Amino acid sequence: MQRDVYNPLLFEIAWEVANKVGGIYTVIKTKVPVTVQEYGDRYCLIGPLSYKSAPMEVERLEPPPGIIRDTLEEMASRGVKYLFGRWLIEGVPFVILFDTASCQHRLDEWKGDLWRSTGIPSPPGDQETNEAILFGYLVTWFLGEIAQKYNQDHDQSGSASPAIIAHFHEWLAGVALPLIKQRRIDLTTIFTTHATLLGRYLCAGSVDFYNNLEHFDVDAEAGKRGIYHRYCIERAAAHCADVFTTVSHITAYESEHLLKRKPDGVLPNGLNVIKFQAIHEFQIKHANSKQKINDFVRGHFYGHYDFDLEDTVYFFTAGRYEYRNKGIDLYVEALARLNDRLKAAKSKTTVVAFLILPGTTHSFNVEALKGQAVTKQLRATVDEIQDRIGKRIYEKALRGEEIEAKDYLLEEDKVLLKRRVFALKRHDLPPIITHNLTDDGSDPVMNQLRRLQMFNNHHDRVKVIFHPEFLNANNPLLGLDYEDFVRGCHLGVFPSYYEPWGYTPAECTVMGVPSITTNLSGFGCFMEENIENCEDYGIYIVDRRLKSVEESISQLSEQMFRFCQKTRRQRINQRNRTERLSDLLDWKRMGLEYIKARQLSLRRAYPDSFVDDDDDLDDILGNGKPVKIPRPISAPASPRLRQLMNGSSSGYFEEEEDDAHPIPIPHKKPFPALHQKGVEVNVTDELL
Ligand code: UDP
Ligand code: G6P
Ligand code: GLC
Repeated sequence: MQRDVYNPLLFEIAWEVANKVGGIYTVIKTKVPVTVQEYGDRYCLIGPLSYKSAPMEVERLEPPPGIIRDTLEEMASRGVKYLFGRWLIEGVPFVILFDTASCQHRLDEWKGDLWRSTGIPSPPGDQETNEAILFGYLVTWFLGEIAQKYNQDHDQSGSASPAIIAHFHEWLAGVALPLIKQRRIDLTTIFTTHATLLGRYLCAGSVDFYNNLEHFDVDAEAGKRGIYHRYCIERAAAHCADVFTTVSHITAYESEHLLKRKPDGVLPNGLNVIKFQAIHEFQIKHANSKQKINDFVRGHFYGHYDFDLEDTVYFFTAGRYEYRNKGIDLYVEALARLNDRLKAAKSKTTVVAFLILPGTTHSFNVEALKGQAVTKQLRATVDEIQDRIGKRIYEKALRGEEIEAKDYLLEEDKVLLKRRVFALKRHDLPPIITHNLTDDGSDPVMNQLRRLQMFNNHHDRVKVIFHPEFLNANNPLLGLDYEDFVRGCHLGVFPSYYEPWGYTPAECTVMGVPSITTNLSGFGCFMEENIENCEDYGIYIVDRRLKSVEESISQLSEQMFRFCQKTRRQRINQRNRTERLSDLLDWKRMGLEYIKARQLSLRRAYPDSFVDDDDDLDDILGNGKPVKIPRPISAPASPRLRQLMNGSSSGYFEEEEDDAHPIPIPHKKPFPALHQKGVEVNVTDELL
């Protein structure tokens, strides 16, 4: 049957639609504007309904009259609860959120059906899998109905009905894929995996993952970890999709061996890059946010505030608390070594290193709260005294009396001040953690900090603050949103071992904050492929692929040490260069890979519906080696070159002024040409 492949409908289905968990939420949310630009109201997202977060995320609407509304009403008449509306983000797309609990009574029936029709088992007691099954059946029900209704419409009107593309993300949304295949529902499907279950589990243990990828007995490994049924869903999704993709080459390689299907292409993650018009606006934002962190640090270190904030740099790591996968182990170890090096070098620099990792806590730490309270009191007292002194000087000046500084601080003010200063005395060290953990004794970060004796002593040049909760502006301790906090810091450190993409360093980049990542993260590899010398642009890459753990730790602490040696001027220049990489990560560019994947899925499902296919594929793909971004003009020359030009190894070329030259971001073809011509794109050859 002929399909209108030039005006398809697009459904994007994920567990993290309007439901923030981790990076997949960021992928979907930030990509919406470019997708809406292309599809308008032919685009709709589908996710699970969380009554807690949905009211904040979605504005409820009556579905417009038509097939979608009829289908939803029919489902509602059979007990399905849903929320239809506009997701309140840039692009305001249509969204349908299904309440899986409203179909809880059908769970056993659907589990039985899943087993009979696809052979996927689902043992009792796995709540997450149960939810995935309910969600999968609801999505299949919905898509099946609308596909059928569009076909009927076509039969009546005779015109080609629109092709339907259903794009699924991650195993939690994957149950629908084998069902759609088995029921032969007339639509085309894409499955994008953002990790593999087995990869995440294996890496979290002590396995030499990357050297053994080809040799794992996947069923046995999944079985040993109690995730065989989840693995089956993921593998079935990968195999049943018309087009299978991942977010990076490294995860593509992993998927090939663990899921046993070579992905058709790689869809790297982008960001919705907002450019600040005034060239230095992001630098001002840094300075403003840093002031807020400074205030927190003054309070946290009260009584031990013996370092100069002008000589202090803020490092941080943040993300889901996956100790080994996110490289937290490496970060802490390298910080201890950096501490030793800075001490040995008698450096004046202090590093305050934050760890923002949500753990299980039961309250804030009293000491941490007290620090903020006593410094706030002191601030208020000083302001009061200052005000009184001001009034007295004004009065005297008005009367033409002589003004002598010593007369103005009254005895009562001195007493008040003494009392406040007394409250600042403390006998214990500033806490290394801001909360009380439910199980402090077995917490890996706390144990590592204790083992390395990182206790925020006055002689330590590296101080640590573990904040086991995500940040938000209403937090009584560190009252900053994550974005503002990142802007105020100097360096993000993300030495991940398992990281299919890794948004956290990418987000640093677009905010002009240098970061450390690894060549085992999708983002790190992407930057290495596209930039001549990443470090000049404030992207430090730790080699965790070819180096031993010991060597990687040394490299990481060395990178941190080099960063500590930078002057303020050099830091400002580096931030400017980092921020100029933003265009490379913009969805306007990255989104083109999604377009190619959709083209491929349409081509595979409806080859006869395309009018022509004589386009020059090579031209569209811009085949050939990627053009790398060259070193920035202001970057220091290599030591040898520097000597030749300068006659010495230091001096003029070391301290460069900021360069305002635009970065030549490698060009990609804009999508309308490709989209309208409906040209098949062989993503496999180009992207893998
Ligand atoms: N994030 C956040 N608050 C924090 C730390 C992280 O909202 O305190 C967000 C961050 O902005 C990023 C996401 O969590 O978009 C983490 O995504 P990433 O791809 O780095 O890791 P994932 O959790 O998906 O493995
Ligand atoms: C930005 C501001 C400058 C400020 C600097 C501090 O560039 O525009 O006014 O001096 O940040 O940089 P630093 O790396 O020392 O935090
Ligand atoms: C996954 C990965 C992460 C990636 C994110 C978005 O959660 O762990 O590395 O950035 O998905 O693709």
